[in-house]
Amino acid sequence: MSDADAIPSRRFGLDDCRLIELPTVHDRRGNLTFIEGGRHVPFDIARSYWVYDVPGGSERGGHAHRRLEQFIVALAGSFDVVVDDGRERRRFTLNRSYFGLYLCPMMWRELDNFSSGAVCMVLASRVYEESDYIRDAAEFARLAGSGA
Ligand code: TYD
Repeated sequence: MSDADAIPSRRFGLDDCRLIELPTVHDRRGNLTFIEGGRHVPFDIARSYWVYDVPGGSERGGHAHRRLEQFIVALAGSFDVVVDDGRERRRFTLNRSYFGLYLCPMMWRELDNFSSGAVCMVLASRVYEESDYIRDAAEFARLAGSGA
């Protein structure tokens, strides 16, 4: 088992996932928002990716991560993130570019309800590792229910 296969020793819950308001510099020429790793998000940023050109009715996500922490921002438009810790689920609507959703490890997440032109930007605590994904809902339910 590689390091990435390990699941964190601390048990995370839905309350660890939260909306974080980002600093905004208001300016008549246009507003500016910024994020510093370890300051505005509780991890060092190793990767960023974004999802765009999402066709109406599409859903993304549908997986959990063993170790990865993420921060999701609707840079444009809006969408919902449904988060499930194996016991309860919560729906967060992201529709402002100066708010983001912090996602701790071991959360099943689904993204839906994308508006036209939505851009979903994600900051991540680790580089891409397929072995960090849990893509099988039954496996996630087993791991989340085991107190892992
Ligand atoms: P995935 O995370 O499964 O997206 P979603 O759950 O929204 O469908 O990623 C889709 C594909 O993109 C998958 O084949 C892996 C690849 N990918 C990378 O190569 N690097 C990345 O940083 C990410 C996030 C995905």
